[in-house]
Amino acid sequence: MEVHATVDALRAALRPRRAQGGRIALVPTMGALHEGHLSLVRVAMRRAATVTVSIFVNPLQFGAGEDFTAYPRDLERDLARLKRERVDVVFVPEADGFTRGLRTTVHVAGLTGHLEGASRPGHFDGVTTIVGKLLGAVQPDVAVFGEKDYQQLVIVRRMVRDLDLGVEIVGAPLVREPDGLAASSRNAHLSPDERRSALALSRALSAAREAWGGDAGRARGLLRSRLQKAPGIRLDYAEVVDPSTLEPLEGVVQGSARALVAAFVGRTRLIDNMGLESPGAEPSGRARD
Ligand code: PAF
Repeated sequence: MEVHATVDALRAALRPRRAQGGRIALVPTMGALHEGHLSLVRVAMRRAATVTVSIFVNPLQFGAGEDFTAYPRDLERDLARLKRERVDVVFVPEADGFTRGLRTTVHVAGLTGHLEGASRPGHFDGVTTIVGKLLGAVQPDVAVFGEKDYQQLVIVRRMVRDLDLGVEIVGAPLVREPDGLAASSRNAHLSPDERRSALALSRALSAAREAWGGDAGRARGLLRSRLQKAPGIRLDYAEVVDPSTLEPLEGVVQGSARALVAAFVGRTRLIDNMGLESPGAEPSGRARD
């Protein structure tokens, strides 16, 4: 496994692999790798001859007062895990070097102002700017993003389409702990009590999915009432949206929908989401263009 810290070194490493004609995949991460990330790597392995993983805690996507400095970092452990997965190339840009002096921001209008975008102004501009740079550095044939960050996945797809970046974006299913908690680097911050409280998110989503009969308002109400009552939880938002456009849905809808929630558990902000499938609908609920 090769590890590179500069775009030049990374490109030089990928050049001969590209010349051999094999597809190149990128899995962008911020490190503190868990099973969810490893599942993205395995999806990438099935789709490309060379898998590149980037590890970069992106300062541009954290707002003032967010957990940029406290974000979990353990590069040695991450590299050991990626080596076990037989990843080919790891790109670990130097902390400031990658973003220093940037004058360009990539902004995807419309999809970025609500849900996470309302609670974290500027967050998605930071994401799309850095994802744009990573796609430019690696020039992969395919890039894999987790459905855990569902809004991010929809936005990245849109950016790639609008800018004709010519990379296939694959969304990989969210990975859950055995008790249902969505795998997240931020789970490392939870105390045992908080971890128990955090289960309210996946349980509320499961309840909404089980009760789903196509009524978006009812599903939203169920999510909100459950999460507002749950001990140890401070609800940020609970929404039911169109899986492709992220538009909030009202009334009875045809086809599938996506439920998304965000809540603070202690000082840790967690997000989760689930597909709500109408009887007879295609079992998708996945982000599409
Ligand atoms: O999902 C993440 O970990 C980040 O938002 C990403 C895509 C690596 C960009 O910094």
